[in-house]
Amino acid sequence: MGVLILGIETSCDETAAAVVTDGQRVMSNVVASQAELHRCFGGVVPEVASRRHIETLNPVIATALAEAGLGFDDLNAIAVTQGPGLLGSLLVGLMAAKSLSFALKIPLIAVNHIEAHIYANFLLGEEISFPFVAMVVSGGHTDIVYARSHSEMRLVGQTLDDAAGEAFDKVARFLGLGYPGGPVIESLARKGNPEAIPLPRAFLEEGSLDTSFSGLKTAVVNHINRSRQKGEEVDLSDVAASFQAAVVEILVTKALAAVETYGAKALLLAGGVAANGHLRDVMLTRMRMQDVKVVIPPPALCTDNAAMVAAAGYYRYLRGDFAPLEINAAAGLSL
Ligand code: KG4
Ligand code: ZN
Repeated sequence: MGVLILGIETSCDETAAAVVTDGQRVMSNVVASQAELHRCFGGVVPEVASRRHIETLNPVIATALAEAGLGFDDLNAIAVTQGPGLLGSLLVGLMAAKSLSFALKIPLIAVNHIEAHIYANFLLGEEISFPFVAMVVSGGHTDIVYARSHSEMRLVGQTLDDAAGEAFDKVARFLGLGYPGGPVIESLARKGNPEAIPLPRAFLEEGSLDTSFSGLKTAVVNHINRSRQKGEEVDLSDVAASFQAAVVEILVTKALAAVETYGAKALLLAGGVAANGHLRDVMLTRMRMQDVKVVIPPPALCTDNAAMVAAAGYYRYLRGDFAPLEINAAAGLSL
């Protein structure tokens, strides 16, 4: 029957549980999003998020098992996101995972959320060989990871200020488009001209794999304020398209630099921002020109989910890398 792992993910505002066989076959993947709950605040309110996780997690786990046609006794291990993320939210998932591990007498596997995003790419049935470069672009991270093997993953680039998704969210909030910002900006951008507004691209110093998006965000804000002062009409589609084009150019440039620096043959894209169609298109085209294989999960596996946690957990399971019941949630956990 293979190794059946229950994944649990509660690091931010998605309550998620999934069952994955052998790190690749998704038996069920249940995600209860809290986006609606936080929308009126323009972003995730940590205290509200953790309370909702408490209410939602047990039914989500029950649904994940039911959809997989399995019972608790069929499971071989519990994999859970230990961090990084919101401490109160992480604790809910971790406590549930510990309880299940203890009660069922099966191993507890602690997974890093960034690592989990990368492993969403292993659920696609694609051949992925090492070394590869992964780019995790989410609401909290713009991480470039160099992976030599399943147990040797190193952070080689990160954002110096805002994460890529955070920039989407902040610009959307400023434009009054609501939360989360990525999907709204993407759909507005389809009607806009990406060259309408000249916006800065911060590439930082030569060779750097770090990113910075706060200057770009400020430039968008300044452009709108200036236009409004002059009484000019602001075309939000043009703003969205120009902003999105700048973010995508920065990300693709950094990904290309990383692949070249490390001689990688594959680029794995992951995280909520990887759901962006323009980013996917440009990344595929530019990497193909360099003969680099690109792997990108479908949008539902890019945003937070527990199948990716179970997939990452599988490779730790194979190594016998289990966590003791004393482990704590780690809001700032690094790779
Ligand atoms: O990975 P994720 O679901 O949660 C975190 O771990 O942060 O990523 C959420 C982020 C949000 O900032 C959201 O605006 C962004 O991903 N996002 C997108 C798109 N869909 C979600 N950004 C750009 N284009 C999209 N289509
Ligand atoms: Zn995430």
